Amino acid sequence: MGKALDGVRILDFTHVQSGPTCTQLLAWFGADCIKVERPGAGDVTRGQLRDVPNADSLYFTMLNHNKRSITIDAKHAQGKELLEGLVKACDVLVENFGPGVLDRMGFTWERLQQLNPRLIYASVKGFGPGPYEDCKVYENVAQCTGGSASTTGFRDGPPLVTGAQIGDSGTGLHLALGIVTALYQRTVTGKGQRVQAAMQDGVLNLCRVKLRDQQRLAHGPLKEFSQYGEGVAFGDATPRAGNDSGGGQPGWILKCKGWETDPNAYIYFITQAPVWAEICKVIGKEEWITHPDYAKPDARLPRLKHIFDTIEQWTMTKTKFEAMDILNKDDIPCGPILSMKELAEEPSLRETGTIVEVDHPTRGKYLTVGNPIKLSDSPTDVLRSPLLGEHTEEILRQVLRYDDKKVAEIKASGAIGGGKPTAAAE
Ligand code: COA
Repeated sequence: MGKALDGVRILDFTHVQSGPTCTQLLAWFGADCIKVERPGAGDVTRGQLRDVPNADSLYFTMLNHNKRSITIDAKHAQGKELLEGLVKACDVLVENFGPGVLDRMGFTWERLQQLNPRLIYASVKGFGPGPYEDCKVYENVAQCTGGSASTTGFRDGPPLVTGAQIGDSGTGLHLALGIVTALYQRTVTGKGQRVQAAMQDGVLNLCRVKLRDQQRLAHGPLKEFSQYGEGVAFGDATPRAGNDSGGGQPGWILKCKGWETDPNAYIYFITQAPVWAEICKVIGKEEWITHPDYAKPDARLPRLKHIFDTIEQWTMTKTKFEAMDILNKDDIPCGPILSMKELAEEPSLRETGTIVEVDHPTRGKYLTVGNPIKLSDSPTDVLRSPLLGEHTEEILRQVLRYDDKKVAEIKASGAIGGGKPTAAAE
């Protein structure tokens, strides 16, 4: 079966996490993704957090499936020539270098348009135009500057970063959507365009409900926050909400059987209004169904802590999976806290291709997260990440149509590694 992006060729100048997340998705949808890396070194993550000596790290392999790797020294005169050829042969250039890096290589947007007017030029940067546009940014910086850290954690503790990579992978996702949208518009206009996604903007987009709450504060306390029921006054900014749900149906994380020794023996429990009667029955509090202090959602808001403490007395008698089985029968929304170990071992995630085992020539078998987006007519086959420069010659011949003589000349120049030392290596 063909793939949705068959025929789309990506010049993948990305590194670390945000950009590679984006191009990996495009590759999974069928794009031919040519990853350009520095000769002898490659994407810095190849060697970061290594668990197997002399093998590409999981950090790299899990973000670069289904791509081809070519090594080119972008600061070498012949390397630039190769890159120009690739710009002409590709539909999309994706990069997430520090601000100004591509311009310094000589590839300004104006130059890229001259080389290929149909090119879509997509970038991730830490910030959009403004006071911080020249700053380099990593994941946690984006979480802090995009509103996530100030609203995550407990009220009486410091701001917290989250384990979900909303700055890097989140922005990569945003960028991928921008690229396919630009490809779609190109089918009408015939022209490429610039696509930019700033990590601060991406995080803020994912924290949209917290900006909602910021504005609601002007009209009174946020009654669904547990601090309201506890009588703690609100300040002038959206506070950290602990495990309060971000929506109109109050929720909290509750202990389950075994919590004393198992750090993940917990369940998220939502007191959704339509199933309030069922909740009361399950926990043995049938009198709450009609009691004026509990019967209506508004009446419950000032006493959420007491309500969740009472529900917890019940959840502590069940394992998180037993509790989920019982609650799901009554359509009560809940979710066990699943550890990475439990997720890695979950058979249904293997069956859907959400967790995939991949074989790699130097590191052996490993698990990865497959494509979370399932297209019925464009299934994803997860293929191992490329070794550094594995496809260099193949791309010179197949994409740039170089003959043996030209390939030998390029090799001798040092522009693709080997041969004479490159300017960067000197
Ligand atoms: N050949 C020759 N040089 C190359 C090259 C190649 N194939 N590939 C990269 N380089 C050079 C660049 O030219 C640049 O050199 P210069 O500064 O002399 O112009 C350098 O390598 C890369 O610079 P930079 O991207 O700034 O890397 P860094 O390691 O200093 O910073 C980040 C890393 C992630 C902080 C930075 O890239 C960044 O802020 N990116 C945008 C935001 C982002 O995506 N952050 C999240 C990453 S997950």
